Amino acid sequence: MTTSSTQAPTIAVTGATGHLGRLVIHALLDRGVPAGSVAALVRDLAKAEDLAARGVVVRHADYHRPETLAAALEGIQSMLLISSSDMDDRPGQHRNVIDAARDAGVQLVAYTSILNAGTSTMLLAADHQATEAYLRDSGVPYALLRNGWYTENYTGGLAQSLPHGALLGAAQDGQFNPAPRRDYAEAAAAVLSTDGHANATYELGGDQAVTVSQVAAEISRQTGQPYAYVNQSVPEYTATLTGFGVPAGFAAVLADSDAGIARGELSTHSGDLSRLIGRPTTPLPDAIGAALKG
Ligand SMILES: NC(=O)c1ccc[n+]([C@@H]2O[C@H](COP(=O)([O-])OP(=O)(O)OC[C@H]3O[C@@H](n4cnc5c(N)ncnc54)[C@H](OP(=O)(O)O)[C@@H]3O)[C@@H](O)[C@H]2O)c1
Repeated sequence: MTTSSTQAPTIAVTGATGHLGRLVIHALLDRGVPAGSVAALVRDLAKAEDLAARGVVVRHADYHRPETLAAALEGIQSMLLISSSDMDDRPGQHRNVIDAARDAGVQLVAYTSILNAGTSTMLLAADHQATEAYLRDSGVPYALLRNGWYTENYTGGLAQSLPHGALLGAAQDGQFNPAPRRDYAEAAAAVLSTDGHANATYELGGDQAVTVSQVAAEISRQTGQPYAYVNQSVPEYTATLTGFGVPAGFAAVLADSDAGIARGELSTHSGDLSRLIGRPTTPLPDAIGAALKG
């Protein structure tokens, strides 16, 4: 099923009804890309009414269903494959999209990977490493957008954690380089709509290196509430998360990601993000302020 448009789309964004996908579509439009040139690939058309209302072409695409992907990629020159939020065989889902892109003659597949995927030992990195390898071997020109942590990872659950005054984790005093989704989205839009990105790898993170303690302190400053980082061991933090009702497998992945921060695996000094977006990345206080307002 497809919405009608007088102009055939040439740029596609998968996961377009997700947080990052929506921001990428908006960033493309803000860059002056005509709405009719942009296809929003979504698994649930009903969630994309706002995008259709802006003139974007909405197409049905489910990573698990190759037949939807072939139709969705018709005429597409460059596309962003947003890594799936569905943990059921993510590499297989991504392979379906990459195969469909190759068959449709797509000229650039940009993929949202994880920062430092080339060396990362984090559990979360495994699916990204498998997808990167498949994409590199596919013969389709690619761009690896190795995204660092979202600042929003620390503001999304504040309603639950702020009343307790404690941000729990296992990241120790590891430094990392978070940036708000909007910055990563602008970078993706730049890659999709300008030349010169074939077979490029971008290590994307905020300009500023911070610790989780500093993030908590900034949240405390802006909310006027006591809020401090409390470090736990990885097993303790895993147990804390399962105690809060997080499924055991996901709790282990989250605690392991914090261990990755402690080892410096979500840190970068590449400057790639600010170069792609043509400005300094959003400073932590501004990113937290915007998330708190949102
Ligand atoms: N860097 C970080 O800190 C960080 C943090 C969390 C996640 N991530 C990764 O980055 C991705 C984008 O982040 P986000 O915040 O935009 O996540 P999100 O809001 O959960 O968006 C994920 C998107 O994937 C779509 N999706 C899931 N399964 C699909 C399928 N079978 N077929 C087609 N689409 C499918 C979802 O569709 P619906 O809209 O229909 O649900 C959604 O649009 C996540 O999926 C995850 O892999 C990164």
